[in-house]
Amino acid sequence: MRVFVAGATGVLGRRLVRQLVARGHSAVGLTRTEAGDRLVRSLGGEPRRANLFDVDSLTKAAERCSVVVHAATAIPTKVRTNPRDWAMNDRIRREGTECLTTAAARVGAGAYLQQSVVWAVRGPNGATFDENAPPVSDPILTSSLDGERIAREAATAHGFRAAILRCGGFYSSDGWHTRVFGESLVRGRPVLVDGGSAVWSWIHADDAASAFLAASEWPKSGVWHVVDDRPVSLSEYVTALATRLGSRPPRRLPRLLVRLALGRYTAELLTSSFPTSNARFRSDFRWQPAYPTFAEGLDEVVAAWKAERFPGGRGSRL
Ligand SMILES: NC(=O)c1ccc[n+]([C@@H]2O[C@H](COP(=O)([O-])OP(=O)(O)OC[C@H]3O[C@@H](n4cnc5c(N)ncnc54)[C@H](OP(=O)(O)O)[C@@H]3O)[C@@H](O)[C@H]2O)c1
Repeated sequence: MRVFVAGATGVLGRRLVRQLVARGHSAVGLTRTEAGDRLVRSLGGEPRRANLFDVDSLTKAAERCSVVVHAATAIPTKVRTNPRDWAMNDRIRREGTECLTTAAARVGAGAYLQQSVVWAVRGPNGATFDENAPPVSDPILTSSLDGERIAREAATAHGFRAAILRCGGFYSSDGWHTRVFGESLVRGRPVLVDGGSAVWSWIHADDAASAFLAASEWPKSGVWHVVDDRPVSLSEYVTALATRLGSRPPRRLPRLLVRLALGRYTAELLTSSFPTSNARFRSDFRWQPAYPTFAEGLDEVVAAWKAERFPGGRGSRL
């Protein structure tokens, strides 16, 4: 199998390239820089330069691929964001999906995989929800759902299968958000909002990649939630990380300061619950996570950080 991965140099994409190659498949990775070329090559993949917003260049790059994966993103790497910071991410989700699905059709791919996020839909009052839950009416999340719709419509129009994988919150030793949590903890910066009672479904990035691998090998159409086995409160998750880092217990941001310090989107995300289940994905793809809960996953993350002496700073025992 030959798989085209847009976002091959990202947290998700580089793991997917490595896992595809380990299973004996060919992985073609979209890149934009020489450093990206080197990275994809080092993972055993074939780098291809193309513009995500140019169908002709994508079609050329994805020649002979039977599966096309959209794992590109431009999630802002800062805590306080405004809608302008999300503009490129929105474009990647909408126009990027249009272009990639058109290229998939032109190269005759049989399957297209679209990444999305579980928090784009929600249950009422923080209740556990499944793939049929209604969308959240937040403009920052609309582009994820638009991307899902564009992929579904393209699949119907062009006759390929489209699998939408809505992932839980990624965490990994190389993930920007995980590193911010780790660094904030050892520096004694507040990381919890509102007592940290919001309950999230997480997924270790290695397991997100293995889910994309499974969906590449067994193409189906539909929408699935790719999360680990146990949703957990932010307080429990961050306390577990602090314990592993040997840092003081997590500090809380006073409620009054939350919006001011974090901005609307981050404040809302950190106070929202999105507990969901991987039951459908497990059953349809015979998949299981290598890190069933955050506890095993954070052990791996902190072991990797210790090896690279991260996070540094006062208060850290690393
Ligand atoms: N982070 C989470 O918690 C989370 C959870 C669920 C789902 N997801 C979704 O999973 C996907 C992958 O996330 P990630 O954490 O792996 O992201 P990441 O590490 O930030 O990687 C982003 C990837 O997208 C590529 N990219 C950015 N702008 C591009 C453009 N204009 N044209 C082509 N490629 C571009 C980057 O390539 P360069 O190296 O060239 O910049 C990189 O390969 C995202 O769509 C994200 O929304 C993330």
